[in-house]
Amino acid sequence: MSVICVIGTGYVGLVTGTCLADMGNTVTCIDIVQEKIDRLKQGILPIYEPGLEEMVERNVHAGRLNFTTSYSEALKDCEFIFIAVNTPTGDKQGGADMRFVESAARSIAQELDHYAIVINKSTVPVGSGDLVTRVIRENLANRKVSFSVVSNPEFLREGSALLDFQNPDRIVLGSSEPEAAHKVARLYLSLRAPIVATDLYTAEMIKYASNAFLATKISFINEIAQICERLGADVKEVAVGMGYDKRIGRAFLDAGLGYGGSCFPKDVRALAHMADEAGLHPQLLHAVMDINHDQRRLVITKLTSILETLQGKTIGVLGLAFKPNTDDMREAPAIDIIRWATQQGATVRSYDPIARETGRVALEREGVDMTKVTFCDDAYAVAEQADALVVVTEWNEFKSLNMKRIREVMREPVLIDGRNLYEQSEIRRHGFVYRGIGRGATPSPSILPPEEAEMTLEETLIIGGEK
Ligand code: UDX
Repeated sequence: MSVICVIGTGYVGLVTGTCLADMGNTVTCIDIVQEKIDRLKQGILPIYEPGLEEMVERNVHAGRLNFTTSYSEALKDCEFIFIAVNTPTGDKQGGADMRFVESAARSIAQELDHYAIVINKSTVPVGSGDLVTRVIRENLANRKVSFSVVSNPEFLREGSALLDFQNPDRIVLGSSEPEAAHKVARLYLSLRAPIVATDLYTAEMIKYASNAFLATKISFINEIAQICERLGADVKEVAVGMGYDKRIGRAFLDAGLGYGGSCFPKDVRALAHMADEAGLHPQLLHAVMDINHDQRRLVITKLTSILETLQGKTIGVLGLAFKPNTDDMREAPAIDIIRWATQQGATVRSYDPIARETGRVALEREGVDMTKVTFCDDAYAVAEQADALVVVTEWNEFKSLNMKRIREVMREPVLIDGRNLYEQSEIRRHGFVYRGIGRGATPSPSILPPEEAEMTLEETLIIGGEK
């Protein structure tokens, strides 16, 4: 088992450190914010992630997981140093802000007194491995300490990060020193995942290209959704039909209000910026970003096409977080939608199962007029006297709402289903004016997959495509 230091107790750092400790390693997580470390020592986490709190507690209790603000304490006897600090968008053009990575590299150099492997987990511009090497080398001054740098990007999704860490599709390792990459690979051996060993630049690019590709899939299906709506097809069934093609795959073909969160928006911007800087004009990436932005606008367009004006109307917003099972509000579509609705004279009643506080903070920070926003205790309270309801985040509890009850308390029965959660005929049966995303057709029966083929053809035809 190894002695590991993880720099940064944000999302990636905390999940990585805790999971590595859970595999039996001795891990010290370091952060420069004293308050964060004090709270972590008391078992209070800065983020919400299912299962993480229990895992932290278990490993702290077993003596494998520690928290500190001291680099000298964290680096003592340590063989692997993971840099997992954030790299926010740093300028208007979308370039990544590397300040935190640089200062982590400086601090490593100041305290390191033995050979260690420095592993970059943060999503960093292509070429950053060289930057880390240079900063450490410069700050070691004349001390004779050797080190290696390896790039090991993360592919963790919020809400299922522990599972993603424990069951990775692949481990990517980039280095100019194969021996160092080999040592890092041993850390992950028990996960039995394919290991892609490559050079630093390529590893860094794999991360950007992966996120950009997934974002492209989302913008692609959102564009198809617009066409479906106009031509009378249902994008949900189009996605099912496309998804069976193994070359395409069903994942990330859910049309909706577009992507948000801490990764996709930032990484697509950063990749486009790198390409721009290199003298290219990455047309596809720019189109992906434009479509994603327009997707949020659709809610306002749909609302005004039904209500004529938002002035004086009450709009109910179901869900604030950028996706379910997280309280993360970073680049959440809810922020833009609530901002635009209130700017057009509406008042907003909102509810999110866990992102109430983070939602309030994010809306305030983004300059939304908070006198026009109310936070409710459940979806039924949101619906009271509302002129329209908008589903912004597809929380599970919204799937089984009592629509009759919702309909009864609303002023106008308008439902904008921004995540295509509902069966439109069912909602319309309750007397709602329903608008999904890309759902032009009345649902038609469709064929079920072969594994369900023990049913008669007659039965399968009745059931329809939305299993
Ligand atoms: C993502 C990547 O999946 C992960 O590998 C990377 O390391 C970090 O970024 P995350 O941001 O947690 O993870 O969320 P993810 O579940 O991938 O969803 C991203 C966004 O895309 C969400 O806003 C989601 O609502 C949206 N989305 C996803 C769609 O609109 N349609 C889809 O079909 C899938």
